[in-house]
Amino acid sequence: MAFPASFKATLIVFQATHPLLIEDMKICCIGAGYVGGPTMAMIAKQCPDIDVHVVDLNQSRIDAWNSNQLPIYEPGLDDVVQAARGRNLTFSTQVDQAITEADVIFISVNTPTKTFGIGAGRAANLEFIEKCARQIARNATGHKIVVEKSTLPVRTAKAVKRILASESSNATFDVLSNPEFLAEGTAIDDLLDPDRVLIGGESPEAIEALCSVYANWIPRDRILTTNLWSSELSKLTANAFLAQRVSSINAISALCEATGADVDEVARAIGTDSRIGPKFLKASVGFGGSCFQKDILNLVYLCEHFGLRDVAKYWEQVVVMNDYQKRRFSEDMVKTMFNTVSDKKIGIWGFAFKKDTNDTRESAAIYICRDLLRERARLCIYDPRVPEQQMRDDLIYACTDMNGHLSKSDEWLIENNVTVVDDCYEASDDAHAVAILTEWDEFKTLDFDKVYEKMHRPSFLFDGRNLLDQEKLSQIGFEIHAIGKAHHRPKFD
Ligand code: UDX
Ligand code: UDX
Repeated sequence: MAFPASFKATLIVFQATHPLLIEDMKICCIGAGYVGGPTMAMIAKQCPDIDVHVVDLNQSRIDAWNSNQLPIYEPGLDDVVQAARGRNLTFSTQVDQAITEADVIFISVNTPTKTFGIGAGRAANLEFIEKCARQIARNATGHKIVVEKSTLPVRTAKAVKRILASESSNATFDVLSNPEFLAEGTAIDDLLDPDRVLIGGESPEAIEALCSVYANWIPRDRILTTNLWSSELSKLTANAFLAQRVSSINAISALCEATGADVDEVARAIGTDSRIGPKFLKASVGFGGSCFQKDILNLVYLCEHFGLRDVAKYWEQVVVMNDYQKRRFSEDMVKTMFNTVSDKKIGIWGFAFKKDTNDTRESAAIYICRDLLRERARLCIYDPRVPEQQMRDDLIYACTDMNGHLSKSDEWLIENNVTVVDDCYEASDDAHAVAILTEWDEFKTLDFDKVYEKMHRPSFLFDGRNLLDQEKLSQIGFEIHAIGKAHHRPKFD
């Protein structure tokens, strides 16, 4: 039944004069991924009076959230989920029901880069966001606060509002933007003690309702409120600035290698300037993760859309530099190993995009492995958290062109020249080289005499994370190539 316009107006007045009380609040979150899952688990743990229902289309993901084997690896997450699951935290695929029952609905579905049509390779694919908005509208009654948790192009809230208003005649809506700044691997600490929480919106009542949730454990002065567009844009901007710092130090790492400067020393020297600060200055084989590249490309697309070509070009360079860094690493490996890695075994240590996560999205390891495979190397990969099938799927994806075509030779190489092992030492046995692509702590304490003993000579070690003590390793006999450092040849070479 459709309610008349006068009813809607009454509802809005009622809402304004009857603010949502936290003890009556029900939250639903659509999307049980790396962001939705941990964020909702933390809200449920910290706010025992609020019912939190996380829903997802993917049944197996939901089954995993309901089991002892959570679908994502994140230090500390198990304890947070266990504290609230079955009390005020539920995971299910009952999307319609969860929407109907909730007062506040978070949208936390993925927004990947478009691979087709207008804006392919740059714009965000908003298909899932639009579908969510329509589903919310169809199932909502009364008044709902809809919260954009997913990272979105600035002004998406306008579209969400229009869809909600035009598809629903039984409900009224406020739309808020509340981007998540957690980083994988430290998500629980980031959620528990964030630098800030950002809430953008138009309705003071809706903003206050969401503030009151976070205020259960976060000091009020760390909850920032802005208008909708500033909030949406701040998330893209934060990620662009962070990625820019990594690309900046990586650019300098190339210059260090050419000149004999040491990138870690340069980073320390500039990082002690309080205006620059020490964080995000670790040179690496290249940044990965689901956000940095996608969000910058999205920013570039937006700038182009608004006719800001020079601004677009400026930000695009951050991604160009990252691609250069990854390519430079694999090319240096081939060049160093006498210009051929064909039929040589190379041990790959680490496949995740950073330590303490099983996430491989846009991991530099995928592209390094692809390049080495195409040089006909035999790869033996070890990662403590990433399952073999995920690695193979990632390599297939990286070798597939824009038209969805995977060449027979790439397919053959992935099938025959990739071995995945669950022991780090096995990856380096009989290898000509080892490449460290993720900074897992366990790599620091390996028995390197044992590793060296079983490798071919010269024994090359390519440290894509500047994790190891080069001096010590070159004394054992390794030839070390690290990022932004002079190459360390063995002491007796
Ligand atoms: C998040 C953010 O939401 C995204 O905008 C940001 O840029 C990256 O981080 P993330 O949680 O990492 O995404 O994504 P993912 O782990 O892929 O989880 C999204 C979930 O949404 C998946 O489990 C997927 O099954 C679910 N989904 C997707 C739905 O339930 N419904 C849909 O219509 C689409
Ligand atoms: C990032 C943002 O930090 C977070 O605020 C946002 O919500 C999501 O995107 P995430 O991608 O999970 O988080 O991890 P982050 O720690 O930012 O690392 C991203 C990539 O940059 C990783 O591949 C990491 O190894 C790399 N990196 C980071 C460096 O190479 N050097 C650094 O100094 C820092």
